[in-house]
Amino acid sequence: MVNLVLIIMVILFSTSLIATGNLNQQVDITWGNDKAKIFNNGSLIILSLDQTSGAGFRSKDEYLFGRVDMEIKLVAGNSAGTVTAYYLSSQGKNHNEIDFEFLGNLTGDPYTVHTNVFIEGRGGREQQFRLWFDPTLEFHTYSILWNPQSIIWYVDETPIRVFRNLQSRGIPYPSNQAMRLYSSLWDADNWATRGGLVKTDWSKAPFKASFKNFKTNGCLWSSSAKKSSCPSSNKGSSWLNQQLDGTNIQKLKSVQNKYMIYNYCADAKRFSKGFPGECKFVF
Ligand SMILES: *[C@@H]1O[C@H](CO)[C@@H](O)[C@H](O)[C@H]1NC(C)=O
Ligand SMILES: *[C@@H]1O[C@H](CO)[C@@H](O)[C@H](O)[C@H]1NC(C)=O
Repeated sequence: MVNLVLIIMVILFSTSLIATGNLNQQVDITWGNDKAKIFNNGSLIILSLDQTSGAGFRSKDEYLFGRVDMEIKLVAGNSAGTVTAYYLSSQGKNHNEIDFEFLGNLTGDPYTVHTNVFIEGRGGREQQFRLWFDPTLEFHTYSILWNPQSIIWYVDETPIRVFRNLQSRGIPYPSNQAMRLYSSLWDADNWATRGGLVKTDWSKAPFKASFKNFKTNGCLWSSSAKKSSCPSSNKGSSWLNQQLDGTNIQKLKSVQNKYMIYNYCADAKRFSKGFPGECKFVF
């Protein structure tokens, strides 16, 4: 009995810690073989892309609600046609997904930060942004917060997008499928740069994107028990109830005014028969 209590306590304690640190223990390389390399005893991953292949990895753990933070340095120079993806996703046909995708560009031209939400296999909720810095010079922190109230995309702790849980109004929200973090570098020159007009310049390959300081804080999913265990309220669970306060709503609005370049909720041509329900409730 004492042993059982001890084991339960160890499980509760360990799932409530912020996991940070060794990428060897945090992720699996899922494709690309030698195009994905882990350096410095698990503190850095570099993905590369050439004409033979890109590469990708995913977190070993799955979460049903969580927050992920990663520092990423994007492909430098002429990165047109390349896409660096960083997203949460469940598996299967009617999967849920929360995306960050970074679309490369010609040298000196700005990246596009593409965001989307898939619910039960359906996307179509795109917002796109420019960044207020050159994302190829230094590492910057990109975060996805996914809790029962909302999904928030952050760039260096500045919120750029919110997707709220409006299930009580009949609007879908990802809340019943566990997700993993996925990241990849791949070639998308059939659509990424000006709708496929600018092709990847393979003479500049291999293209490289770097990742470090992967932090996860979530309700760890157990596939055998078919449920997730959330951290106790006093142990690093502030993300679980986190919502935007007034200051952060102002920051979000300011980013959206200055840097948003596409918003599905403003695309009247596309939604000539009426906008999706959530568009009425955007801040
Ligand atoms: C490598 O990382 C592991 C796990 O974080 C750690 O236990 C070990 O001491 C590290 N080794 C070196 C040489 O830094
Ligand atoms: C590349 O830069 C051009 C010029 O600023 C811009 O119009 C275009 O949207 C950019 N493409 C991507 C994929 O970001």
